[in-house]
Amino acid sequence: MALVRTLIDRDQDHFGPELPPGLRELYDGDLRFRDSVTERPFVIANFVSTLDGVVSYEIKYQAAGSTVSGSDTADGFIMGLLRASADAVLVGAGTVHNVSPEALWIPEYTYPDAKHLFREYRVNVLHKSEFPLLVVVSGSGNLELERAIFRTPGVRTAVITTSAGRDALAGAGAMKLPSVQIYPLGTKYGTIAPMAMLRLLYGKLGVRTLLHEGGPTLFGQFLAAEAVNELFLTLSPRIAGRRGDTIRPGLVQGIEFMPDAAPRFQLSSVKQRAEHLYLRYQRTRGHPPVA
Ligand SMILES: NC(=O)c1ccc[n+]([C@@H]2O[C@H](COP(=O)([O-])OP(=O)(O)OC[C@H]3O[C@@H](n4cnc5c(N)ncnc54)[C@H](OP(=O)(O)O)[C@@H]3O)[C@@H](O)[C@H]2O)c1
Repeated sequence: MALVRTLIDRDQDHFGPELPPGLRELYDGDLRFRDSVTERPFVIANFVSTLDGVVSYEIKYQAAGSTVSGSDTADGFIMGLLRASADAVLVGAGTVHNVSPEALWIPEYTYPDAKHLFREYRVNVLHKSEFPLLVVVSGSGNLELERAIFRTPGVRTAVITTSAGRDALAGAGAMKLPSVQIYPLGTKYGTIAPMAMLRLLYGKLGVRTLLHEGGPTLFGQFLAAEAVNELFLTLSPRIAGRRGDTIRPGLVQGIEFMPDAAPRFQLSSVKQRAEHLYLRYQRTRGHPPVA
């Protein structure tokens, strides 16, 4: 039975294999992505926000996206499906710090009921490894190495960091973890450029489809660098509100766009389940969508 109902589907691009019947039924339609035509991965972002654009309540133990969605089943399914479609999942350190130590960025973590469907799709249809590579971005290297992402058999994790971050991670014992690779990159004004990350992922790690799962700081940098192709946005029927003295981030944090340069998107699909909406956008530079 379908988990979501398709209200609009304008996706005219048919690249790559179609979804297997079980996933097609749950998603109420097909899902395919373009191949990147540049020497970098095709980048898909996925967020959930409240009606007033908040992506985190920033309250201890309630800061994650699942609180924003109200642990919505279909949001979890779509997240799992996007993970199943990607070679790698990218997250910033702030996002890692705000989820449970057991959290994994693998398809079935957010929707266990489709574990076998996700696996069959990845391995037999897309011919990818069982799980996507997890890529964590941390300039400081200040990561808790006891987390499941660094210690679960079969889960590979790459950390993109600075040389100081590499030293901090080495000091904490990261080099002894068999499934963890550390990649130090140069910085400009203290941050690593998104394009440098993408060149590493494409050239050295073979990533062709990258799922960007935030957070708002890392996502803003990718948007500013013209390095986002698509955005999947779950709209949760809640209003979080903001006070002047608290920081409840929106989709983008740490960067502002002038009206003329504000990134624009073209709506490609709308799905619905009860009061939630699941929106898919393609990035446009005017028109047509970014290739
Ligand atoms: N609702 C949703 O869909 C959703 C999705 C994702 C996240 N969130 C929420 O957003 C909040 C986190 O927001 P955030 O903006 O702090 O998260 P973030 O972007 O995940 O993390 C920021 C951290 O990532 C590292 N970083 C980012 N860009 C870097 C660069 N270019 N070079 C080097 N390091 C870089 C830095 O780590 P170091 O400090 O280690 O250097 C920085 O402090 C959490 O509450 C999370 O739950 C919500």
